Amino acid sequence: MSTSSRGSSDPVDVALVGAGNVVRALYLPLLSTPDPLFRVRSVFDVDGAAAQHVAHALGARAAPSLREALDDDRVRAVFVCTPKEWHAEAVHAALDRSLHVLCEKPLGRDGAEAVELWRAAEGAGVAHMVNFAYRFRAGPAAARALLRAGAIGRVYHLHGTLAQGRWFTAQGLPARERRDATPWRYGPTGGVVSDLGPHVVDFCAPLGDVLWTQAWTSSLRAAEQAAEDVAGLSLGFAGGAVAHLLVSRWATGHHEKLSIEVAGSDGSVVFDRAGARLWTRHSPEWTGAPAVADRTFLTAFHAAVRGDGTHGGATFRDAAANALVVDAILRGARSGQVERPLTVTSPEGTAPRSRAAGSRR
Ligand SMILES: NC(=O)c1ccc[n+]([C@@H]2O[C@H](COP(=O)([O-])OP(=O)(O)OC[C@H]3O[C@@H](n4cnc5c(N)ncnc54)[C@H](O)[C@@H]3O)[C@@H](O)[C@H]2O)c1
Repeated sequence: MSTSSRGSSDPVDVALVGAGNVVRALYLPLLSTPDPLFRVRSVFDVDGAAAQHVAHALGARAAPSLREALDDDRVRAVFVCTPKEWHAEAVHAALDRSLHVLCEKPLGRDGAEAVELWRAAEGAGVAHMVNFAYRFRAGPAAARALLRAGAIGRVYHLHGTLAQGRWFTAQGLPARERRDATPWRYGPTGGVVSDLGPHVVDFCAPLGDVLWTQAWTSSLRAAEQAAEDVAGLSLGFAGGAVAHLLVSRWATGHHEKLSIEVAGSDGSVVFDRAGARLWTRHSPEWTGAPAVADRTFLTAFHAAVRGDGTHGGATFRDAAANALVVDAILRGARSGQVERPLTVTSPEGTAPRSRAAGSRR
């Protein structure tokens, strides 16, 4: 990308916190271009070797502590890429220094923490974004644009699957075939609902506010069942639309399986890894959806830092609402009941919606 097309001649100086799989897979390729939007100055990871490796690749310095990574006068923004248990610590440290923040999904440990982080970021008056990475993939991005534009009329329902394979052996034991199969994902905080759930809830964002959720979770692994690795979710939306989704780590034969279809009064949209396709009553044959502008999560965050409110990324507020839906999914899986997500706008950020839990509409 040319400097003129991004609207600023200088890259934004950042500190990077956490230097694991997501950094290697998503950040390094975008930051290693000849003309990057962000220049990483310091890298902190509790694993010093991981920090050294990424710092070396980016021409940055590996910092011995979070404080020393952030206390660099040049740094204006922070990328938070640790597992979610440590997002709050790094986000607060960044906000205390009035630094813009890009945080990996999910924003916090749970909805309450995500709401608290959203409020803190608003209070600090900085740009804040959470990386729901599928927003920037061609298929989901094209489908999202069509839904936002009302291309299929009133949405009736969304259904589909986001599933991954190669997590377990044929005997149901942890496999080491995936680069992202780090130990925490097999542990109690690494369940598939908190890992893939935020993405599928974000797919549904164009359908409106979630009014109710219903869910089941299960673990199919042979060893101790530390967390769920397959789940079925149903969501109901304020406009009457419904969604039905499977998230799983048992997609045998796939590294990742993505297949979503949305049906509406005037047409349908499908999207998968290959792209998005549209059928409408006006043009009744399946055709490729128009591509949307090639935007990455870093171009979106760069726009957010420049104060462009149309950056297309999820703000901390969006991510807090997403986290409250994920909370409701997990609650519902435990209770067996229909659950209502709490809202981000109530005084405590945790007040339930007005209708009683247990009845749908
Ligand atoms: N947006 C996406 O599509 C996407 C994809 C993968 C992962 N993620 C998210 O990215 C985050 C990291 O996931 P990952 O796959 O890179 O995990 P990972 O385990 O591969 O890497 C995490 C890194 O953080 C480091 N770390 C742990 N605690 C730390 C702390 N307190 N301070 C500094 N560093 C610390 C670890 O040593 C490790 O190097 C998670 O929130 C995950 O959900 C997002």
